[in-house]
Amino acid sequence: MAGYDPVRDTEFKDALHTIEAIPDVSQTEPVQVSEAPTKPTPTAYAPAWRVSEPDTVQVPMLPEEFEELKRSSLNSMRNDSTVAQLADQEYVPQRRATRHPAPSNEQSAVVAQHYNKRGEVGREQREFSPILPLKRFNNWIKSALIHRFSTGASGESNKQNGRILDLGCGKGGDLNKWEHQHPSLLVMVDIAEVSVAQAQERYKNGKFSFQAMFFDFDCFRVPLESQLPSSILETLFDTVSLQFCLHYGWDTEKSVDTMLSNVAKALRVGGTFIGTTVDDEMLYSRLETSPMRQDSQFGNESYGVRFTSLKSRPEQPFGNQYYFWLEDAIEDVPEYVVDWKTFERKANEHGLELIYKARFDQMLADGYELRPMRLLLERMHVIDQDQAANGVVTPSMPMPLWDVCTLYVGFAFRKMESEA
Ligand SMILES: C[S@@+](CC[C@H](N)C(=O)[O-])C[C@H]1O[C@@H](n2cnc3c(N)ncnc32)[C@H](O)[C@@H]1O
Repeated sequence: MAGYDPVRDTEFKDALHTIEAIPDVSQTEPVQVSEAPTKPTPTAYAPAWRVSEPDTVQVPMLPEEFEELKRSSLNSMRNDSTVAQLADQEYVPQRRATRHPAPSNEQSAVVAQHYNKRGEVGREQREFSPILPLKRFNNWIKSALIHRFSTGASGESNKQNGRILDLGCGKGGDLNKWEHQHPSLLVMVDIAEVSVAQAQERYKNGKFSFQAMFFDFDCFRVPLESQLPSSILETLFDTVSLQFCLHYGWDTEKSVDTMLSNVAKALRVGGTFIGTTVDDEMLYSRLETSPMRQDSQFGNESYGVRFTSLKSRPEQPFGNQYYFWLEDAIEDVPEYVVDWKTFERKANEHGLELIYKARFDQMLADGYELRPMRLLLERMHVIDQDQAANGVVTPSMPMPLWDVCTLYVGFAFRKMESEA
């Protein structure tokens, strides 16, 4: 349906505003999905990036580069004209409200470079993406998580006036989803500064009822308090969201601890930490049954996973790297297996208690039970309507794309009272 925008669609808004009671789904066990036969990955691994070109460090700065550097030191939060500049000319990297240079590592630089390179395409172009059904499904999943588990300001029975922290926010694709929760503040953070600039532009061009602030730094390696002004942090957040990002930061125990400490310190008691990431069980079981197991690979024509050396489950919970590609989205970017047991244990150590975890196929089944989410599923064309009429909830997408969806899990934790 060309031109259809599930997020702006008025019927969608009505659907979300009809909020129903949330059932207790904390005991839900993920279900098994049947495996589609995996096909060989068509492209061999051939990284096409490097962090810096040889010798560039020694090249003297040109006058125009110097001007660019001066521009990049502007604080765009205080300068409305920067967004207008962005609209008129080719993108010039803007420094977000970063207080001092944030240390990061080579791994993060590769991820940031990948997302910085991926330009924003318009809504019409997005409609032609070969993975559009998957994008719609993922958007529905995030809407469902936000709808069910985000929290509003403490003391309010509805979800309004929440202070939201969106870590790994990307180009701001969830701005509209948050609008439906009527927050008071949304703070967006991402390591890819071009993405953050695009999110900021999207916010300025939209009609949002909440205040938003934008920052670029590495939320797995940098403490929040070194980047966010104390005026923001002195009132705690009601919800922290980490969508499709955890698997980029699972390289060391230290980076996971830094991220969890950022989340836990930012959240009020009773506030929620929600997110989506790759399911470790699915990664390993697909690897173990893959015809390409000897090459540590599996996938199909829509996606591919290639472990750097692994052929079965490792002992150590951190740093288990693989490369992931997804048609029309991700070009062989390094990710890490998120060891779920370790994640849950560490989150607990940081005062976060698991209230929901389910693989995306189970989330579809759970969401279908909730009327607003079911209406949204239908309006976003996520499920096969004819099958649904016969009582079968089937995603409306080709099997190779569904194989990608069933690799992921959604989760929600609640910040506990401290014992002291
Ligand atoms: C798959 S995108 C998801 C974007 C957005 N959350 C969404 O769901 O549309 C992953 C995002 O995580 C960001 N990211 C990866 N590592 C990060 C880090 N260490 N700190 C902050 N952001 C990071 C990437 O730059 C990218 O924008």
